[in-house]
Amino acid sequence: MAEQKKILRALAGETQDVPPIWMMRQAGRYLPEYRATRAQAGDFLKLCYNPDLAAEVTLQPIRRYGFDAAILFADILLIPQALGADLWFVTGEGPRLSTITTEANFAKLGPASDIHETLNPIYETVKILSKELPAETTLIGFAGAPWTVATYMIAGRGTPDQGPAHALKQENRALFEALLARITEATIDYLSMQIKAGAEVVKIFDSWAGSLKGEDFHKYALEPCRQITAALKERHPGIPVIGFPREAGEKYLGFAKATGIDCLALDNSVDPIWAAQNLQVDGCVQGNLASRHMVTGGQDLVDETRAIVEAFKNGPHIFNLGHGITPDADPDNVQLMIDTVRGG
Ligand code: CP3
Repeated sequence: MAEQKKILRALAGETQDVPPIWMMRQAGRYLPEYRATRAQAGDFLKLCYNPDLAAEVTLQPIRRYGFDAAILFADILLIPQALGADLWFVTGEGPRLSTITTEANFAKLGPASDIHETLNPIYETVKILSKELPAETTLIGFAGAPWTVATYMIAGRGTPDQGPAHALKQENRALFEALLARITEATIDYLSMQIKAGAEVVKIFDSWAGSLKGEDFHKYALEPCRQITAALKERHPGIPVIGFPREAGEKYLGFAKATGIDCLALDNSVDPIWAAQNLQVDGCVQGNLASRHMVTGGQDLVDETRAIVEAFKNGPHIFNLGHGITPDADPDNVQLMIDTVRGG
């Protein structure tokens, strides 16, 4: 039965006439029904930790558009919170966390084995979803990659160039590596619990992979992704993993093989024709329409969507955006993208 799901077929390497489709941040502020449920919950974090409402916002884009996959509604920054960091969101600005820049800060974090008390509501959301999703819809769980999560934990916020994380890496490499190791261990357990609760695929978001160069990329982006993937596949044989080393540029080459992931998610900067020749040869790829088309729409959206479908038509492909949809997007443009993918 599971093999009938289009997303799982693509992840198993099958080429399909019409690729399956879902969208990063598909549950989000561009949807009026999301804004209403978020208001009902009180704020973003309360929404994440309320299993009924988190399941509801996960289902909203499935009901509206019939995407082939639902992605669990949660956030990559729940892991730092579960490890003991303070986390809050400033409206219009983004996340804030207590910072980890010294051994004393690090010593206050709890062990990876203690995260589940905080994260239990997330596993509850997964359980609800695995009962309520339509039979043809695949449920995707996720976590942030250790480097990306560490950039927020070190700086206490999002940063344009991940400067504070690079600085700690230079000034106190032992502490930096201990932090990455703690996040890696917690992430394996967190994803494993999502899979036990019913997630059928997991995705690892390394949104800031592109700021790691050379040996640093190998040690802090590729290697943690390989470790997480290997541990999950040992515990849950056959579970597909999607990796997203965003803005990795030429380091996308060989990333899937080296890490053991089943699908490589491509950001906006990757040329689809180049990717078909150089990346899709190693297995499934996901992407990569620029999110701005969800704001601007029109013939440009249609042409770009068709070009991506055409470029990837001879191999396994999951259609998606190159990054998350933004709050100013027009829900009608999402429908236009889906109609173009499905209807030609
Ligand atoms: O629909 C989905 O994609 C599933 C849920 C999801 C969210 N965040 C919900 C969310 C997922 C998979 C994420 C991943 C995430 N979170 C990433 C990696 C992907 C990427 O975008 O690069 C990162 C870096 C974060 C951290 C984060 N969460 C930031 C920087 C922000 C603030 C920026 C913003 O868009 O407001 C968030 C908040 C957030 N996470 C929102 C949503 C729907 C908006 C919060 C709100 O409703 O106010």
